[in-house]
Amino acid sequence: MALVLAIETSCDDTAAAVVDSALHVHSSVIESSIDLHRPFGGVVPELAGRAHLSTIGPVVRRALVDAGLNPHAPAIDVVAVTSGPGLIGSLLIGLSAAKAFALAWEVPFVGVNHLEGHLFAPLLERPGLEWPMVTLLVSGGHSMLVLQHGPGVHEVLGETIDDAAGEAYDKVARWLGLPYPGGPEIDRLAAEGTPGALKLPISMTGDDFDFSFSGLKTAVVRATEKNPDVALADVASSFQAAVAEQLLRKLRRALEVHSDLKGVALAGGVAANSALRHGVEGLAGEFGVASFLPSMAMCTDNAAMIAAAGLYRFAHGGPSDFSLSARPNWPLSEVS
Ligand code: KG4
Ligand code: ZN
Repeated sequence: MALVLAIETSCDDTAAAVVDSALHVHSSVIESSIDLHRPFGGVVPELAGRAHLSTIGPVVRRALVDAGLNPHAPAIDVVAVTSGPGLIGSLLIGLSAAKAFALAWEVPFVGVNHLEGHLFAPLLERPGLEWPMVTLLVSGGHSMLVLQHGPGVHEVLGETIDDAAGEAYDKVARWLGLPYPGGPEIDRLAAEGTPGALKLPISMTGDDFDFSFSGLKTAVVRATEKNPDVALADVASSFQAAVAEQLLRKLRRALEVHSDLKGVALAGGVAANSALRHGVEGLAGEFGVASFLPSMAMCTDNAAMIAAAGLYRFAHGGPSDFSLSARPNWPLSEVS
C-alpha cells in the first residue's frame, strides 16, 4: 500500500498529512496563521508566506511522527503538494519544501489543484460516495457548482462572477464590525435573528449556474445605513438567508436539469455554514439523492484532501516534473 505525504500552503494554513492509497488518514496537522492576519481584517500575503516558511518544517515533521514514521527516513512513496490556485508566496513555500523532501527521499512528487483537493475531501470520510454527484464548492476564494462524473472527472457548471461566498461573508462581517474570518461569526449570530428582518435581493435568479455576491454585500451596506436600528443578529440572519437562497436555488436547478444525479456534496470553508448544510439536506431529501456533508475539519483547508487528490493524479497521470511551477490562478477546468 502506497503512503503519500501531502503539503498544503495555498493560503494561511500550513498543513501536512500522511494518507495511504486506501484513503486512510494516518495523520493530519494544520497550523493556522490566522491570528497574524486578524488585526488586518483579511489574509496579508507577505505575513502568510513568512509564517509558512517558519512552520512548514515542524508541521511536516509532526505529520510524519504522528503517522508512526521515522522523520529522518520515512517510508513515504510519493509527495503531493498544492501547486495552485492560491497566494504565490504561500504556494512557493509548500512547493519548494515538497520538492526538497521528494529529492532527499528519492521519491516522485505530484502537484495538486487546491480546488480538486476540496472535491476529494468527502471521499476521505464517506468511501461509499455515489456518482454522478454535484458539489457546491464554496470557500473564501471560490464559489462554484461542479458536476462530478466520478473521482477526478469533473465539469464546472457555474461559478461566481465577482466575490466568492466566503469573501462576501468576510466583507459583510467587517462592515458590521465583527472579527475576521466573518463566516463563523455571522453564522453564530444568524441563529439569534430573523431572516426576513432586512429586505435583501436574491441575485442571479436566471437559469444558468453562475453566482454573484457583490451586489448583496452592497445591499447590506445600504440597508443598514438606512435602518441603523436593525439588530445585528437580524442583519446576520437576513444576509445568511440571502446567500443560502442563491446557492440553493442553483443547486436545485442542477438537480432538476441533471436527473441522473445520485448525490449532492458541500466542500470548502463555507460548507461549515449551518443554513447551507440544512438546505442541502433538505434538497437531497426532496430529490431522493444522498447528501455528503464533510465534517468541519474537512470543510476548511487541510492536507489530507490534497493527499487524496494527489493519489488520484499520480495514479492517472504519473509524477509531476521537478520543474513544475506554482499556478496562482489555476482553474479547476484546466485540471486533467
Ligand atoms: O476553504 P477555506 O478554509 O479557505 C479558502 O480556501 O478560502 O474557507 C474560508 C472561508 C472564509 O471566508 C470564512 O469566513 C468562511 O470560509 N467560513 C464560513 C463559515 N466558516 C468558515 N462562512 C459561512 N459560514 C460558516 N460557518
Ligand atoms: Zn480552500
